[in-house]
This record gives sequence, structure tokens and C-alpha cells, in this order.
Amino acid sequence: MNSWKLGRYPVRYPIVQGGMGVGISLSGLASAVAREGGVGVIAGVGLAWTDSETARFALEDHRKALQAEIQKACEQAPDGIIGVNVMMALSNAEDLMIAAAQAGAHALFLGAGLPLSIPQEVLNFGDRISLVPIVSSGRAARLIRDSWQKKFGRVPDAFVVEGPLAGGHLGFKETEIHSESHSLEVILNDVLSVANEANEANEANEANEANEANEANEANEANRAIGKCSKIPVIAAGGIFTSEDVAKFLAQGATAVQLGTRFVATWECDASQKFKEAFVSSQSQDIEIIPSPVGLPGRAIRSPFLRELALGRRSKVICRYRCLKSCNPATTPYCIARALIAAKRGDFEQGFAFCGANAHRLREIVSVRELMQELTQHLN
Ligand SMILES: Cc1cc2nc3c(=O)[nH]c(=O)nc-3n(C[C@H](O)[C@H](O)[C@H](O)COP(=O)(O)O)c2cc1C
Repeated sequence: MNSWKLGRYPVRYPIVQGGMGVGISLSGLASAVAREGGVGVIAGVGLAWTDSETARFALEDHRKALQAEIQKACEQAPDGIIGVNVMMALSNAEDLMIAAAQAGAHALFLGAGLPLSIPQEVLNFGDRISLVPIVSSGRAARLIRDSWQKKFGRVPDAFVVEGPLAGGHLGFKETEIHSESHSLEVILNDVLSVANEANEANEANEANEANEANEANEANEANRAIGKCSKIPVIAAGGIFTSEDVAKFLAQGATAVQLGTRFVATWECDASQKFKEAFVSSQSQDIEIIPSPVGLPGRAIRSPFLRELALGRRSKVICRYRCLKSCNPATTPYCIARALIAAKRGDFEQGFAFCGANAHRLREIVSVRELMQELTQHLN
């Protein structure tokens, strides 16, 4: 059976729908995936942004908007598992994590930067909220694991390992994106080693506990202690497209897989029809790597906006949001918040859509149920 546990939560299928901002995966998509037995993830970025000239960046608005999405998703998928994706590069990352935990999200997926500090308010929820860093190397996974163990006395409940074929921001230098040594297959092995090192550490601890218990003539407890050794599940992401891909990465040792691009081409995806059509009609030559004010490269579908940008025609950025820790409005080539809000609406004169390397293989928009059935057909 391919059912698994994300922290304390059982999940029927080893499929996670990756968080997609801005506004691409909200309660509609996340709840549909959760109802079908996968993990549905709401993207926490920019939920209160609007394209009005008087828009503000009020922390309270974002908190409330995120909590409303979580509540809606949980109502629409009462037995499902709902996660929230928080980009560490956001200036309100900590605030969003706390808001998500308070609203009852089952998991936090923490990407676009190393999640080395977790607010105490979130840690206080214990295992009621699973904490899942998104990494692109074994080195990052080890750093996070060791730092969490030392600072918080807990290890991640899972890792997402995202390879260079993924949509959105990529945790690689541009030169690494096309190199074999950074393929998902290679980095998955590296992260699996880190997850298994943790496994061995846990086993050793638990065996010690068991021995002590034995000495105290508590043999039954000792056996129970040995039996519950935990493993950090690893979730593979980036370019996964078919049920054969799913089966392949599970066979390599992943506990589950995370997909983004395929979930864009679903009726339940929260983006506009034009956004989805841009995916379905894209050709391989339309997909390119672009720089982003987040400080990481990203993969996107070519658009009139990106063409203008490549020609160096950029207008002065007036920053309304202060959304990124690292963005300098005086030097940034464009405002990513505005560009992504425009794209969600389907306005590619003013924006662009992030996409995975396999977006050009999409042919049609399907329901989440059909997609989940397709992806899980080769599983036991
Ligand atoms: C349109 C789009 C938006 C995305 N936005 C985010 C995001 O806000 N935060 C994040 O961590 N990952 C984001 N991602 C990455 C996805 O969560 C997922 O890991 C990735 O798309 C997997 O690769 P695939 O698209 O090839 O399946 C985005 C991906 C896409 C396609």
C-alpha cells in the first residue's frame, strides 16, 4: 500500500499538490486534492494583494485572508489534509506561519529560503502541525535537520526535494539547472541519505531507551520502543508528469511526490481560465529561465511582459507591498508581486506565469479526480 503519514496525519495517496502563488493554489484546488486522498496545499503568498493603485501591505489582511482560505479548504475537505506553503523570502513569512497554525492547517511547506527559524508560537502546536522544509540539496536538508534538532529538539516531519525541472523559483544557480549532477534523481539520493541518517540516529536513541528499559525489566515497553522508530519521509518534486514518473520516484525511495504544473491544468485550479490555457497551449520553446527579485532563477512561460523585460524596457518600480526581505525597489528589474497578480488574471502584457519544464506536454484541462486517478494507476 502506498498510504503514508505526514507527521501524525495519515494520507491515502503519495501525492502532494505543490503550493502555487500568487493565488494559483487556494482553497478550491487544495480541497479538491485533499478530497481525492492527496495533500492539498494553499500558497500563502500575496493573498491580500490587489492590483488597485491604493493597495496596502497590511499584515493583518494577509493573516485574515490566509485563515479564511484554510477554513474554506477544511470545510470543503473535512477528512482531508491541508497544508500551507510559505516562502521564507517573504517579509511576513513568520506571521503567515503563525496564522496558518492557528487556523488549523495540518502542515507547513517552507521553501524559497532556508527555514532555520520557526516561531515559538508554531512550535507550541507540537505535532498538530507538520513542518516540511523544501530543499534542493542534501546539504540544505542536513543543515536544517541538525539545526532543528539542536534548537527545537525535533526534526522535520518530511522533506520536499525539488529538482531543476520544477516550476516556480529554483534553488539552483543557472549553470546547475541543466547539469546531470543536480538532477532530481541525484539530489533525491542525497536527501534520502540525510533522512536515513536521521533514521539511524532515532533507531540508536530508541535502542538505548529500549536497553535502559530492559535493565529495568520492562521488556514489553522496550519492544514497543524498538517498533516505533521513525523515518523522515522524502517527497520528490520537479518535472513529475506521468504515473510512471510517480512509480519511478517511489521505487527510488521517495515516500511521496509533489506536482505543481499538472495541477494547474485542472478545472479546480484557482487561476483564471486564461492562465490555464497559457499552460495547455505552450510549446517547449516558450519555456525559459528568468531572474527574479527573490534572488533565485525561475522557470516561466514566455510572455509579452518578459519580452519587454529582456529588451531592457522596464518602467520604474513603485513598491506597494514590501513583500520580499531581499528586494530593493530601486534596482529590481520588475515588481514580482504585480507581475504575478496580473498573470493570475490572465494578463500577460503585465505579467508572466511560472511553470515546470514539462508544461508543454499538457494537452487538456481535466478534473482533479481524473488527474489523481491517472497519477495513482500504477500504485498498489
Ligand atoms: C505557477 C506556479 C507557482 C508556484 N509557486 C510556488 C510558491 O509560491 N511557493 C513554492 O514553494 N513553490 C511554488 N511552485 C513550485 C511548486 O510548488 C512545485 O514544487 C513545482 O511546481 C513542482 O514541479 P512541477 O511543476 O514540474 O510539477 C510553483 C509552481 C508553479 C508551476
